[in-house]
Amino acid sequence: MPKLFFMSFLSEIERRRTFGIVSHPDAGKTTLTEKLLLFGGAIQEAGAVKSNKIKKGATSDFMEIERQRGISVATSVLAFEYNGIKINILDTPGHKDFAEDTFRTLTAVDSVIVVIDVAKGVEEQTEKLVKVCRMRNIPIIVFINKMDREGKDAFDLLDEIEQKLNLKVAPLSFPIGMGYDFKGIYNLWEKNINLFTGDSKRDIEETIKISDVSDPTLNTIIGDTAAETLREELELVEGIYPDFNKEEYLNGDLQPVFFGSALNNFGVRELLDCFVSIAPQPRPKNSEERLVEPDEDKFTGFVFKIHANMDPNHRDRLAFIKIVSGEFKRNTPYLHVRHNKKLKFSSPNAFFAEKKEIVDISYPGDIVGLHDTGNFKIGDTLTEGEVLNYKGVPSFSPEHFRYINNADPLKSKQLYKGIDQLMDEGVAQLFTLDLNGRKVIGTVGALQYEVIQYRLEHEYGAKCSYENLNVHKACWIEPESMNHPEFVEFKRIKQRFLATDKQGQLVFFADSIFSLQMTEQKYPSIKFHLTSEF
Ligand code: G4P
Repeated sequence: MPKLFFMSFLSEIERRRTFGIVSHPDAGKTTLTEKLLLFGGAIQEAGAVKSNKIKKGATSDFMEIERQRGISVATSVLAFEYNGIKINILDTPGHKDFAEDTFRTLTAVDSVIVVIDVAKGVEEQTEKLVKVCRMRNIPIIVFINKMDREGKDAFDLLDEIEQKLNLKVAPLSFPIGMGYDFKGIYNLWEKNINLFTGDSKRDIEETIKISDVSDPTLNTIIGDTAAETLREELELVEGIYPDFNKEEYLNGDLQPVFFGSALNNFGVRELLDCFVSIAPQPRPKNSEERLVEPDEDKFTGFVFKIHANMDPNHRDRLAFIKIVSGEFKRNTPYLHVRHNKKLKFSSPNAFFAEKKEIVDISYPGDIVGLHDTGNFKIGDTLTEGEVLNYKGVPSFSPEHFRYINNADPLKSKQLYKGIDQLMDEGVAQLFTLDLNGRKVIGTVGALQYEVIQYRLEHEYGAKCSYENLNVHKACWIEPESMNHPEFVEFKRIKQRFLATDKQGQLVFFADSIFSLQMTEQKYPSIKFHLTSEF
């Protein structure tokens, strides 16, 4: 690449921030996303971003999933510009039945913002998602939301976050009161106060620069009692919590915390300003072969999500590729590594707020949507010719297992094609029992069985039925060696419980925690993993 082009290529990488917002449902992820888009001028009014969450009650859960699938392509990537920075927000479903989609999306983000409801504190989904981020050392910023409501004491909540999420927090803002008495926020990052006043408490009065909290103007602004309390609390903050350190944040060792109210657009600008200045630009990524740097001039990327067309007459899909290195150009042949085949894309989609547009060129950190007729599956790598396989899109043990049977013998070809494609999309996992070749579908939530049945019928014209199967967990097996006597015996004795996944990896179906423990004890040379990547 000529020097001049290389410089502008580097500055394109430097100005990109690709991240995900994660939270337990209802903590305020959609509201916060929307407020961030408003700052970027990407949308004009509140209420424009449709929630992709499963609303309970109105219709059956399963119809809700179809509704959600319809809008989730629009919210998959929300991109906008803010102060010269290109921000890509990747959508992560909060519903626990879609936890696996979220885990996969987390392989494509460079950092995350975790939203916590001040009244509810750390909830189950937050715990699970943060654990995955911690495993990958993803930089995390915490946003404590709904400060306009009564909630937990700030210090108690920070304690809870440290304990339950195993984080080392560094508050960068601190609330002045909460709920009815919520007066505003002291911003430790910018050293100023944001006041939250007005009858409805919905107006942000002004931002007042106070570089030293001992300044008596603080008393005139928020009153003597609140000023004294704030001074004491900030002294405590200083005494208890470490100073913010960007290096530690980027390594995943320290997590800055902000307080605010997304609904009232309060504390959001502070969060965004800090985010653009500290959050990482696109990071290097490990492949099985080597570490790939974003500024390498050859394009590489991987598929982290596949979205099927809602219209059964057009069975094309959109494969979402995260660009890891180089420039992705339209109409250029790229190597599909798993198929060892060159593919060209005439209409790659880039995402802007809620629109998608065909683009000629995209940079590391960006997501492009490629039309696909069945070539891709989640985890696939594209390159300019190098044989590389990106790591880190693992499968986790499903929670539910059922046999799938063909309910219309004349349509078996359609059934198998349908199952194959739905599995590539990551809707569920397919296993084949070693003993008799029967097919087993494993899912995270029970709802997915209805979705699969419905989509097989409507998109592929096939019918299926299910039969229960008592499996507690699927464990991927790692023997010391293939011909180790213990492994040979294990395969003989446990044949009834062995299956292969779609990649041909051997899996053990444990019917209870107890039987898994017994088996582990009996065959110490074999490792049992709850994820496909070890
Ligand atoms: P989610 O995407 O994380 O699931 O949460 P979402 O943004 O949809 O927010 C969940 C509910 O919490 C919404 O109310 C939303 O208006 C409310 N909310 C979000 N931020 C704040 C805040 O700062 N303060 C207060 N008081 N409420 C907040 P809802 O009634 O469930 O939905 P809607 O009818 O308002 O859309």
